[in-house]
Amino acid sequence: CGIVGYVGSKPAYPVLISGLKRLEYRGYDSAGVALLVDGNLQVFKKEGKVAALEGVVGEQQPLSKIGIGHTRWATHGEPCDRNAHPHLSNDGSIAMIHNGIIENYAQLKAELEKKGYTFASDTDSEVLVNFIADIRMNNKCSLEEAVRIALKRITGAYVILLLDNDMPDTIIAARKGSPLVIGVGENEHFLGSDASPMLAYTKDVVYINDYEMVIVRPDELILKNLVNEKLTPFVQRLDLDLAAIEKSGYEHFMLKEIFEQPQTIFDSFRGRLDVEQAMLTLSGLDAIKDKLLAARRIIIVACGTSWHAGLLAEYLIEELCRVNVEVEYASEFRYRNPIIDENDVIIAVSQSGETADTLVALENAKKQGATIFGIVNVVGSSIARMADAGAYTHAGPEIGVASTKAFTAQLVVLELFALKLAQMKGTASPERLRQLIAALHAVPEQVQWILDNQLDNIKRIATKYKDARDFLFLGRGYNFPIALEGALKLKEISYIHAEGYPAAEMKHGPIALVDEHLPVVFVATQDPFYEKVVSNMQEIKARKGRLIAVVSEGDEMAEQLAEDVITVPKSDELISPLLAVVPLQLLSYYVGIELQVDVDKPRNLAKSVTVE
Ligand code: G6P
Repeated sequence: CGIVGYVGSKPAYPVLISGLKRLEYRGYDSAGVALLVDGNLQVFKKEGKVAALEGVVGEQQPLSKIGIGHTRWATHGEPCDRNAHPHLSNDGSIAMIHNGIIENYAQLKAELEKKGYTFASDTDSEVLVNFIADIRMNNKCSLEEAVRIALKRITGAYVILLLDNDMPDTIIAARKGSPLVIGVGENEHFLGSDASPMLAYTKDVVYINDYEMVIVRPDELILKNLVNEKLTPFVQRLDLDLAAIEKSGYEHFMLKEIFEQPQTIFDSFRGRLDVEQAMLTLSGLDAIKDKLLAARRIIIVACGTSWHAGLLAEYLIEELCRVNVEVEYASEFRYRNPIIDENDVIIAVSQSGETADTLVALENAKKQGATIFGIVNVVGSSIARMADAGAYTHAGPEIGVASTKAFTAQLVVLELFALKLAQMKGTASPERLRQLIAALHAVPEQVQWILDNQLDNIKRIATKYKDARDFLFLGRGYNFPIALEGALKLKEISYIHAEGYPAAEMKHGPIALVDEHLPVVFVATQDPFYEKVVSNMQEIKARKGRLIAVVSEGDEMAEQLAEDVITVPKSDELISPLLAVVPLQLLSYYVGIELQVDVDKPRNLAKSVTVE
C-alpha cells in the first residue's frame, strides 16, 4: 500500500491526489483520502485506481489544508469501497490509514465487539482505529498517548497516519516494518511511503525508523520513540530529480525503464570499474572483507525478480570465488529455522529495500550473528539501513511494477561482487578478470544495440504469439535464471501462463505441454552448454512446439531450427545474461500492450510488498 499526508498552507486535496498517483505502483485496489474541514472529517474512498477516486470527488474538492490518503493493496478483505482506507472510529472522531498487517486483530476485534463497537469493513485497520479510540476514551488521554498505548498491544507491521477532528493542524504517524518518510517544506510537511509524493515540493526529508512516531504540524515536526522520549529528526537532502519519476514522453514507465538500461547499467558500475587497470572498487565489500574471506558460505536472500538475480549470482560466485552459495526465498528462509552463525555472510537483494519478508529474514539472521550485505536500489530504505555493508544499484527510481532496469542493475552489482571477491581471494586469474571487466564494460553499448536493432522484430513476435495460452521459457546454466525471469515478466504483465525451466529438466514434465500451439522461448546465447541447448530445441521441434530463440549474433544453427530468432551481441557467457534478458522484457511489454493490459500496474501485483 501507499500512504501520503499533508499539513501546511496549500489546499491538501491536490497534493494528496498527485502523491497517491506517484505511489500507485505500491498498490491500486482502491484509494481514499480524509480531510479536515472546519473540524469535521470528510472521507472519500473508492474501489479501483486513484482516477476512480477523483471521479467520486469530482468538482466538490473539499477546502482543507490537512489530509491523509491511501492507495491499497488488499490483505484483509476484498478490494471494495467499504474496505478502502481511510477508516473512521465508530464515533467519527478519528480517521486512520494503515499499511501493513495487524496480526492479533481478531482478538482485538472480539474485545471491541463485546463493548459494542461495530465494523463497516473486513479490515484489520478498522479494528486498530477503534482500538485507539477506545483507549483514548477509557484513559481520557490525548490521541498521541492512545496511539502509544495501542501500539504496545498490537503485533504485526504498520505505518499508520491519523487525523483527529479536535486537532485541526496535526497528523500523528507511527511505523514498524513499513516505510515512512517525512518531507520538510517551508511551513508545511509531507508524509509518504517514499519520497516521490513530496519531490515536487521539497528535497529535505526525514526517514522514520521502526518504533518511532511523529507529531506533524505545519511548522513543527516532533519525533518520539514509543516510550515518549523526544528524538532529533535527521534531515537529509535527496539527490533525486522530478524527471526521474516521470514518464518523459514514453507511453509507459516500463518502456522508459527498459530504454534507460544502457544508462542505468553504466551508472551501476560507474566509478567501480577501471578497464585499463582491471581494477574494481566496491567499498561496501571492503568493509566486510575479513568476514567474507572467512565465510564458510554465502547465502543470498531475496524475493521475486531479485531472487532471480540472486540465482544467477550463485552460479557466478561459485564459479569465480569457489565458495558455497545458497539462494533462498526470503519468505521460506525466515520461517524454516535455518542454521546460521557468525561465519555466514548474507547478501540481501532488494530493489525497494522494503520487502517485508526479506527485511525480517535479515533481521533474524543478523540476530544469529550473520553479516548482512545489502544490494538495494532505494537509497535510505529499511534494508539499506539495517545492513552491515552494501552497494547501491543506482538504477534510479523504478516505477513500473514489473522490474526491468532494477534487475539488470542488480546483476551488474552482483557481477562486481563476484569479480571483486575473486580478485581478493585469488580464485580467478588476472587475465580472466580482465576479460570479464572488459565484457561488463561493453554491456551498455550492447544493450543499446538491441534496442536499436531488435525492436521491430520483437514487436512482430509479440503480435504473432499474443493469443497463446501458455509459454515456456528454457535456458541452461547462466541463462536458466534469465528463462525464469522471462517467464515471470510475461505472466506479470500479460496474464499469459508462463513457466521458466532448466532446458534439460523440461523433459521431466513441461514437455507434456508441447504441441503445435505452444511457444517455447529458448535463451540460447553462446556458452559451453550451447550444443546441449540445441539438442533440447530439437526435442521441442520434434514435438511441433513453436521455437523462439534468443541467440548470439552470427548463430546460424538456431536460425534453421527456430521459427523466430532474436539476436543479441556476443559477450562472455558470464556477462551475456545481462543482454539476453532485455529482449524478454521487451517481448512481455509488447505482448502486454497487444492484450491491453495496464503494464505499469498489472492486476493484483504491487511493486513493494511490505506485508508478509
Ligand atoms: C514484488 C514486485 C517484484 C519484486 C519483488 C521483490 O513482488 O512486484 O517486481 O521483484 O516484490 O521486491 P524487492 O523490492 O525486494 O526487490
